[in-house]
Amino acid sequence: MGIENTGKAWETPKTEPFIRIENVTKKFSDFIAVNNVSLDIYKGELFALLGGSGCGKTTLLRMLSGFESPTEGRVWIDGQDMTSVPPYERPVNMMFQSYALFPHMTVEQNVGYGLKHEKLTKAQRQDRVKQMLDLVQLSQFAGRKPHQLSGGQRQRVALARALAKQPKVLLLDEPLGALDKKLREHTQFEIMNIQEKTGITFVVVTHDQEEAMTLSTRIAVMDRGIIRQTGTPTEIYEFPKTKFVADFIGSINQFAGTVKSVTKDKAVVACADWAGEITVDRDASVAVGQNVSVAVRPEKISISKKAPAKTLNAIEGKVIDLGYFGKDSLYRVKLPSSALVRVNRVNDQRGRETERVAQWEDKVWLAFEPSAAILLKD
Ligand SMILES: Nc1ncnc2c1ncn2[C@@H]1O[C@H](COP(=O)(O)OP(=O)(O)OP(=O)(O)O)[C@@H](O)[C@H]1O
Ligand SMILES: [Mg+2]
Repeated sequence: MGIENTGKAWETPKTEPFIRIENVTKKFSDFIAVNNVSLDIYKGELFALLGGSGCGKTTLLRMLSGFESPTEGRVWIDGQDMTSVPPYERPVNMMFQSYALFPHMTVEQNVGYGLKHEKLTKAQRQDRVKQMLDLVQLSQFAGRKPHQLSGGQRQRVALARALAKQPKVLLLDEPLGALDKKLREHTQFEIMNIQEKTGITFVVVTHDQEEAMTLSTRIAVMDRGIIRQTGTPTEIYEFPKTKFVADFIGSINQFAGTVKSVTKDKAVVACADWAGEITVDRDASVAVGQNVSVAVRPEKISISKKAPAKTLNAIEGKVIDLGYFGKDSLYRVKLPSSALVRVNRVNDQRGRETERVAQWEDKVWLAFEPSAAILLKD
């Protein structure tokens, strides 16, 4: 899970944000692409903007870079209001969604391209290019042309080119979009390393929730121009605030119900799917009679052929589907109400077939702790 290595500036009240996005709205004629977004991003963060296609991620990034101006609201970077600052004067560089390398130029020339207009001597420029190639570990390919490189190597050239101008903020739009899964994972760690080495503030756009979880200090989850939730990967995963965020990040079971009673620290929810009551750790704001959804991650539900000792949040069902995914198994269990529950179980390290708790058609008991469930209201 996330690195969360920046001393948690966002939890320290006196820290000034490095980037402040203040009530920013972007309209394209009648269409609202970004809707009243406010965000504070701190120095040295690797901040992820996460959301589905068309939700406004690129548009928000373009307003940071200055290629697009907000219809309403303001952007501040390093204490300066960016409203009338043109893109080339901002302490920002952007790596575009489809980064285009110049095909006729070598790796070295591509990386040095943006430095032409900087007041550097030839030796200084060569030095900077060399540093960048070392950083992305491509020194031995300095003389190659882009078509002589793999996809991942080309991606690193684009990254080196964006870093060469030594921006204070690097904006990366889907930096790993063109790579296959294995290379993506590898390059994610490289990006994290480079971010740590340079200390530059990174804002990364992605629609891949696993990528956002691995890479970032914090995530903003976007949906149709709105930020639904901002938090560390752990907060977003363990404490989603809405059904949308719960569903968007990882897999989750949701049982709709009505709050029957509340005590000091627990709430009891009547759920038709569960054919009974579920007890959950109470959220401060729930009231008796309220319609809620009880959400439980598949890995937080235990599965066993034996009835559990405690009857709290336990129910019997039947395995209708079973998938084996190397390190874990996924069971789909049908409850008497016909509701389906997904349960994830980490496989035993020692064996392969032997440790499976149940097979197709087996009757099993499911159970979870009140602390494992989340109460969602909308
Ligand atoms: N110049 C423009 N004129 C009109 N509409 C636009 C313009 N640019 C973007 N939009 C619209 O604004 C919305 C947000 O677009 P944006 O490119 O920010 O999405 P995104 O989150 O980056 O999506 P993706 O993941 O597909 O790249 C989309 O519905 C898009 O069609
Ligand atoms: Mg985009």
